[in-house]
Amino acid sequence: MVGRALWRAMEAAGFTQIIGRTRAELDLRDAVATDEFLQSEKPDVILIAAAKVGGIEANRTQPADFFFDNLQIQTNLIHGAHTHDAGKLLFLGSACIYPRLAEQPMREDSLFTGPVEPTNDGYAAAKLAGLKMCQAYREQHGCDFITAIPTNLFGQHDHYEPERSHVIPALIAKYHAAKTNGDDSVTNWGTGDPRREFLNVDDAAEACVYLLDNYSNAEPINIAGGTEISIRELNNKIAALTGYTGAVEWDTEKPDGMPRKLLDNSRLTELGWQPKTDFGEKLKLAFVDYCERVA
Ligand SMILES: NC(=O)c1ccc[n+]([C@@H]2O[C@H](COP(=O)([O-])OP(=O)(O)OC[C@H]3O[C@@H](n4cnc5c(N)ncnc54)[C@H](OP(=O)(O)O)[C@@H]3O)[C@@H](O)[C@H]2O)c1
Repeated sequence: MVGRALWRAMEAAGFTQIIGRTRAELDLRDAVATDEFLQSEKPDVILIAAAKVGGIEANRTQPADFFFDNLQIQTNLIHGAHTHDAGKLLFLGSACIYPRLAEQPMREDSLFTGPVEPTNDGYAAAKLAGLKMCQAYREQHGCDFITAIPTNLFGQHDHYEPERSHVIPALIAKYHAAKTNGDDSVTNWGTGDPRREFLNVDDAAEACVYLLDNYSNAEPINIAGGTEISIRELNNKIAALTGYTGAVEWDTEKPDGMPRKLLDNSRLTELGWQPKTDFGEKLKLAFVDYCERVA
């Protein structure tokens, strides 16, 4: 999802020589193949959009795979960017690398101050290593490698399979199925009160491209400023979007998770970038994308 959005954003920004590979064409865990690719293409700029990404269940049950794959992919690309003299590299973290109990909204300086959420420990450990690796190459070799930390993203080419989907695509699939099956009610876990932040993937990609020209620092930078919304409100919006008219119920015996999860966006705002798109409009487009590609 992010890779395609980055491609669109780079084209919109005037890049004309964009090179990409699918996983079938180049397995980035393969150090030799990755080095050969970088040697032949000699990219000036590298944006790392490839990663093993998944939902809570996949993260909980395959911590070794999340750790190994992501460590390999990012190590091969970060080291390769140095050996093949790329002028700039952008590495992506994620909100789940923040300590579980970090003060809200989460500021970049609260990274590494406490344990992360145990269910995504393997993924977060690899991402935190990538951030440190970018800093180490900057310090020792003067490489202009930066780390951006996007908040929860959604949009075109999201994943709707249960083992890979995040909140918004999972709810779209759930309410669309309820509507199609003519269900009278849909039950959700918890109270619906927790609040979460969501940013459209095209906004995040535009911010990444903005950072290529406007950010050169060892410290990571959040990409946020999305819409903060309660899970209840989000359910209602998505139910309406899919045309589902049954009841939306809450099993309050089930856990809620963190009451609020939000990234502090001040570093990026001070740099001069803010998201421009409307959440409701982008949610509609996400549903259209689901209907066209998946439903
Ligand atoms: N989505 C979000 O809400 C979000 C939020 C913050 C940060 N991010 C970050 O953004 C990045 C991309 O996430 P995404 O949501 O775009 O995930 P995605 O849609 O799953 O994209 C990841 C891509 O990496 C590819 N890939 C996985 N292993 C590979 C390998 N060994 N070699 C080559 N390619 C490989 C995947 O290919 P296959 O599909 O074939 O597996 C997929 O095309 C990740 O670093 C993630 O942490 C995402």
